[in-house]
Amino acid sequence: MQFTQSTVGRKMIMAVTGLCLVLFLIIHSVGNLGVFSGPDGINAYADFLHNLGAGVWIFRIALAAIFVIHIAYGIQLTMENMAARPDGYTYKQDSRATFASKTMIYTGFIIFAFLVYHLLHFTIRVTNPEIYGLDAAGRFDVFTMMVEGFSSVVVSLVYLIAMIALILHLSHGVASIFQTVGLNNVKSLPIIEKVGKAVAILLFLAFICIPVAILIGIVSL
Ligand code: HEM
Repeated sequence: MQFTQSTVGRKMIMAVTGLCLVLFLIIHSVGNLGVFSGPDGINAYADFLHNLGAGVWIFRIALAAIFVIHIAYGIQLTMENMAARPDGYTYKQDSRATFASKTMIYTGFIIFAFLVYHLLHFTIRVTNPEIYGLDAAGRFDVFTMMVEGFSSVVVSLVYLIAMIALILHLSHGVASIFQTVGLNNVKSLPIIEKVGKAVAILLFLAFICIPVAILIGIVSL
Protein backbone atom coordinates (compact mmCIF):
# COMPACT_ATOMS: atom_id res chain seq x y z
CA MET A 1 0.00 0.00 0.00
CA GLN A 2 2.77 2.41 1.04
CA PHE A 3 4.80 1.46 -2.04
CA THR A 4 2.03 2.52 -4.43
CA GLN A 5 1.49 5.75 -2.46
CA SER A 6 5.08 6.96 -2.62
CA THR A 7 6.28 8.80 -5.72
CA VAL A 8 9.28 6.46 -6.00
CA GLY A 9 7.01 3.39 -5.79
CA ARG A 10 4.70 4.71 -8.48
CA LYS A 11 7.63 5.64 -10.73
CA MET A 12 8.92 2.10 -10.26
CA ILE A 13 5.54 0.72 -11.36
CA MET A 14 5.65 3.05 -14.41
CA ALA A 15 9.15 1.75 -15.22
CA VAL A 16 8.25 -1.95 -14.91
CA THR A 17 5.00 -1.63 -16.90
CA GLY A 18 6.83 0.57 -19.46
CA LEU A 19 9.50 -2.11 -19.84
CA CYS A 20 6.82 -4.79 -20.41
CA LEU A 21 5.20 -2.58 -23.08
CA VAL A 22 8.56 -1.99 -24.82
CA LEU A 23 9.19 -5.76 -24.85
CA PHE A 24 5.72 -6.29 -26.32
CA LEU A 25 6.43 -3.66 -29.00
CA ILE A 26 9.75 -5.31 -29.92
CA ILE A 27 8.05 -8.72 -30.34
CA HIS A 28 5.06 -7.15 -32.16
CA SER A 29 7.24 -5.20 -34.60
CA VAL A 30 9.37 -8.26 -35.42
CA GLY A 31 6.20 -10.36 -35.94
CA ASN A 32 4.74 -7.68 -38.24
CA LEU A 33 7.87 -7.78 -40.41
CA GLY A 34 6.61 -11.23 -41.48
CA VAL A 35 4.53 -9.29 -44.02
CA PHE A 36 7.72 -9.10 -46.11
CA SER A 37 7.74 -12.91 -46.36
CA GLY A 38 4.42 -12.81 -48.23
CA PRO A 39 0.85 -13.93 -47.48
CA ASP A 40 1.73 -17.41 -46.33
CA GLY A 41 4.34 -16.28 -43.80
CA ILE A 42 2.30 -13.64 -41.99
CA ASN A 43 -1.03 -15.52 -42.22
CA ALA A 44 0.56 -18.66 -40.76
CA TYR A 45 2.13 -16.61 -37.95
CA ALA A 46 -1.20 -14.91 -37.11
CA ASP A 47 -3.00 -18.26 -37.30
CA PHE A 48 -0.48 -19.79 -34.88
CA LEU A 49 -1.09 -16.94 -32.40
CA HIS A 50 -4.89 -17.17 -32.72
CA ASN A 51 -4.75 -20.93 -32.08
CA LEU A 52 -2.97 -20.58 -28.75
CA GLY A 53 -6.44 -20.82 -27.15
CA ALA A 54 -6.64 -19.66 -23.54
CA GLY A 55 -3.02 -18.45 -23.81
CA VAL A 56 -4.11 -15.65 -26.15
CA TRP A 57 -6.66 -14.41 -23.65
CA ILE A 58 -4.30 -14.62 -20.69
CA PHE A 59 -1.77 -12.60 -22.73
CA ARG A 60 -4.40 -10.03 -23.82
CA ILE A 61 -5.77 -9.52 -20.30
CA ALA A 62 -2.25 -9.15 -18.85
CA LEU A 63 -1.28 -6.69 -21.61
CA ALA A 64 -4.48 -4.65 -21.14
CA ALA A 65 -3.87 -4.53 -17.36
CA ILE A 66 -0.27 -3.37 -17.92
CA PHE A 67 -1.47 -0.63 -20.33
CA VAL A 68 -4.16 0.54 -17.86
CA ILE A 69 -1.75 0.66 -14.89
CA HIS A 70 0.90 2.51 -16.95
CA ILE A 71 -1.64 5.09 -18.19
CA ALA A 72 -3.34 5.56 -14.79
CA TYR A 73 -0.08 6.14 -12.90
CA GLY A 74 1.25 8.32 -15.73
CA ILE A 75 -1.80 10.61 -15.50
CA GLN A 76 -1.63 10.65 -11.70
CA LEU A 77 2.09 11.53 -11.55
CA THR A 78 1.67 14.26 -14.21
CA MET A 79 -1.25 15.80 -12.30
CA GLU A 80 0.76 15.77 -9.07
CA ASN A 81 3.74 17.41 -10.82
CA MET A 82 1.47 20.09 -12.29
CA ALA A 83 -0.15 20.77 -8.92
CA ALA A 84 3.30 21.05 -7.30
CA ARG A 85 4.58 23.54 -9.93
CA PRO A 86 1.61 25.31 -11.53
CA ASP A 87 3.86 27.87 -13.29
CA GLY A 88 6.03 25.31 -15.08
CA TYR A 89 8.97 26.69 -13.08
CA THR A 90 10.98 23.46 -13.09
CA TYR A 91 11.14 23.08 -16.85
CA LYS A 92 12.48 26.60 -17.25
CA GLN A 93 15.11 25.87 -14.61
CA ASP A 94 15.91 22.34 -15.72
CA SER A 95 18.17 22.51 -18.75
CA ARG A 96 18.04 18.70 -19.07
CA ALA A 97 14.31 18.71 -19.85
CA THR A 98 13.90 17.89 -23.55
CA PHE A 99 10.92 18.27 -25.87
CA ALA A 100 10.30 14.51 -25.52
CA SER A 101 10.39 14.61 -21.70
CA LYS A 102 8.07 17.63 -21.51
CA THR A 103 5.48 16.09 -23.84
CA MET A 104 5.25 12.56 -22.35
CA ILE A 105 1.61 13.00 -21.31
CA TYR A 106 0.59 14.31 -24.77
CA THR A 107 2.48 11.68 -26.75
CA GLY A 108 1.02 9.11 -24.34
CA PHE A 109 -2.51 10.28 -25.15
CA ILE A 110 -1.81 10.15 -28.90
CA ILE A 111 -0.50 6.58 -28.56
CA PHE A 112 -3.59 5.61 -26.52
CA ALA A 113 -5.96 7.14 -29.12
CA PHE A 114 -3.99 5.32 -31.84
CA LEU A 115 -4.23 2.03 -29.90
CA VAL A 116 -8.04 2.28 -29.72
CA TYR A 117 -8.17 2.92 -33.49
CA HIS A 118 -5.56 0.21 -34.21
CA LEU A 119 -7.50 -2.44 -32.27
CA LEU A 120 -10.73 -1.51 -34.07
CA HIS A 121 -8.83 -1.55 -37.41
CA PHE A 122 -6.78 -4.77 -37.15
CA THR A 123 -7.86 -6.82 -34.10
CA ILE A 124 -11.62 -6.27 -33.64
CA ARG A 125 -11.84 -5.54 -37.39
CA VAL A 126 -14.77 -3.19 -37.62
CA THR A 127 -13.54 0.04 -39.26
CA ASN A 128 -13.02 -1.27 -42.84
CA PRO A 129 -15.25 -4.31 -43.60
CA GLU A 130 -13.90 -4.44 -47.20
CA ILE A 131 -10.37 -5.45 -46.06
CA TYR A 132 -11.28 -8.42 -43.83
CA GLY A 133 -11.49 -11.97 -45.17
CA LEU A 134 -10.04 -15.49 -45.21
CA ASP A 135 -7.22 -16.81 -47.39
CA ALA A 136 -7.36 -20.00 -49.53
CA ALA A 137 -6.35 -22.06 -46.46
CA GLY A 138 -9.29 -20.64 -44.45
CA ARG A 139 -7.09 -18.52 -42.18
CA PHE A 140 -7.60 -14.84 -41.34
CA ASP A 141 -6.00 -13.06 -44.31
CA VAL A 142 -3.80 -10.68 -42.31
CA PHE A 143 -1.62 -10.02 -45.39
CA THR A 144 -4.50 -8.67 -47.51
CA MET A 145 -5.86 -6.77 -44.48
CA MET A 146 -2.51 -5.00 -44.02
CA VAL A 147 -1.92 -4.31 -47.75
CA GLU A 148 -5.44 -3.00 -48.37
CA GLY A 149 -5.46 -1.13 -45.05
CA PHE A 150 -2.23 0.76 -45.72
CA SER A 151 -3.07 1.39 -49.38
CA SER A 152 -5.11 4.27 -47.98
CA VAL A 153 -2.84 7.31 -47.63
CA VAL A 154 -5.08 8.66 -44.84
CA VAL A 155 -4.77 5.44 -42.81
CA SER A 156 -0.98 5.36 -43.35
CA LEU A 157 -0.77 9.01 -42.25
CA VAL A 158 -2.64 8.20 -39.03
CA TYR A 159 -0.08 5.45 -38.37
CA LEU A 160 2.80 7.81 -39.20
CA ILE A 161 1.57 10.43 -36.71
CA ALA A 162 1.16 7.74 -34.04
CA MET A 163 4.66 6.38 -34.72
CA ILE A 164 6.14 9.90 -34.38
CA ALA A 165 4.41 10.15 -30.98
CA LEU A 166 5.77 6.69 -30.15
CA ILE A 167 9.38 7.57 -31.05
CA LEU A 168 9.20 10.70 -28.86
CA HIS A 169 7.57 8.83 -25.97
CA LEU A 170 10.13 6.00 -26.07
CA SER A 171 13.18 8.19 -26.63
CA HIS A 172 12.59 9.62 -23.15
CA GLY A 173 10.68 6.66 -21.64
CA VAL A 174 13.30 3.94 -22.20
CA ALA A 175 16.07 6.06 -20.62
CA SER A 176 13.72 6.82 -17.69
CA ILE A 177 13.29 3.10 -17.00
CA PHE A 178 17.04 2.77 -16.34
CA GLN A 179 17.12 5.94 -14.25
CA THR A 180 14.15 4.91 -12.10
CA VAL A 181 15.65 1.55 -11.25
CA GLY A 182 18.86 3.35 -10.27
CA LEU A 183 21.11 2.23 -13.12
CA ASN A 184 22.23 5.77 -13.90
CA ASN A 185 25.37 7.55 -12.81
CA VAL A 186 27.45 10.30 -14.36
CA LYS A 187 29.29 7.78 -16.54
CA SER A 188 26.33 5.66 -17.65
CA LEU A 189 23.78 8.44 -18.20
CA PRO A 190 24.93 9.43 -21.72
CA ILE A 191 25.00 5.72 -22.71
CA ILE A 192 21.51 5.18 -21.28
CA GLU A 193 20.19 8.17 -23.20
CA LYS A 194 21.72 6.82 -26.43
CA VAL A 195 20.26 3.34 -25.83
CA GLY A 196 16.82 4.90 -25.25
CA LYS A 197 17.01 6.83 -28.51
CA ALA A 198 18.32 3.80 -30.43
CA VAL A 199 15.45 1.58 -29.20
CA ALA A 200 12.95 4.30 -30.15
CA ILE A 201 14.42 4.79 -33.64
CA LEU A 202 14.63 1.03 -34.34
CA LEU A 203 11.00 0.50 -33.29
CA PHE A 204 9.89 3.50 -35.36
CA LEU A 205 11.66 2.11 -38.45
CA ALA A 206 10.38 -1.45 -37.89
CA PHE A 207 6.77 -0.23 -37.63
CA ILE A 208 6.75 2.48 -40.28
CA CYS A 209 8.56 0.51 -43.01
CA ILE A 210 5.38 -1.57 -43.47
CA PRO A 211 2.96 1.21 -44.53
CA VAL A 212 5.79 2.81 -46.55
CA ALA A 213 6.60 -0.48 -48.35
CA ILE A 214 2.91 -0.98 -49.14
CA LEU A 215 2.36 2.61 -50.36
CA ILE A 216 5.35 2.49 -52.71
CA GLY A 217 4.40 -1.01 -53.95
CA ILE A 218 7.29 -3.10 -52.53
CA VAL A 219 4.64 -5.22 -50.78
CA SER A 220 1.49 -5.72 -52.83
CA LEU A 221 -1.31 -8.23 -53.46
C1 HEM B 1 2.73 -0.07 -38.55
C2 HEM B 1 2.61 -0.44 -37.29
C3 HEM B 1 1.79 -1.63 -36.84
C4 HEM B 1 1.27 -2.68 -37.57
C5 HEM B 1 1.43 -2.97 -39.05
C6 HEM B 1 0.53 -3.50 -36.64
C7 HEM B 1 -0.16 -4.65 -37.00
C8 HEM B 1 -1.02 -5.34 -36.18
C9 HEM B 1 -1.88 -6.42 -36.59
C10 HEM B 1 -1.97 -6.98 -38.01
C11 HEM B 1 -2.57 -6.84 -35.50
C12 HEM B 1 -3.61 -7.97 -35.43
C13 HEM B 1 -2.91 -9.29 -35.26
C14 HEM B 1 -3.90 -10.41 -35.41
O1 HEM B 1 -4.97 -10.35 -34.82
O2 HEM B 1 -3.58 -11.35 -36.09
C15 HEM B 1 -2.15 -6.03 -34.38
C16 HEM B 1 -2.60 -6.16 -33.08
C17 HEM B 1 -2.19 -5.38 -32.02
N1 HEM B 1 -1.32 -4.30 -32.07
FE1 HEM B 1 -0.32 -3.64 -33.72
N2 HEM B 1 0.64 -2.98 -35.38
C18 HEM B 1 1.39 -1.82 -35.45
C19 HEM B 1 1.73 -0.96 -34.41
C20 HEM B 1 1.32 -1.13 -33.09
C21 HEM B 1 1.70 -0.26 -31.99
C22 HEM B 1 2.60 0.96 -32.10
C23 HEM B 1 1.10 -0.75 -30.87
C24 HEM B 1 1.14 -0.25 -29.44
C25 HEM B 1 1.19 1.02 -29.12
C26 HEM B 1 0.36 -1.93 -31.27
C27 HEM B 1 -0.39 -2.70 -30.43
C28 HEM B 1 -1.17 -3.78 -30.80
C29 HEM B 1 -1.98 -4.57 -29.88
C30 HEM B 1 -2.10 -4.34 -28.37
C31 HEM B 1 -2.60 -5.58 -30.65
C32 HEM B 1 -3.55 -6.66 -30.15
C33 HEM B 1 -2.81 -7.93 -29.88
C34 HEM B 1 -3.81 -9.05 -29.64
O3 HEM B 1 -4.70 -9.23 -30.44
O4 HEM B 1 -3.65 -9.75 -28.67
N3 HEM B 1 0.51 -2.13 -32.61
N4 HEM B 1 -1.21 -5.11 -34.82
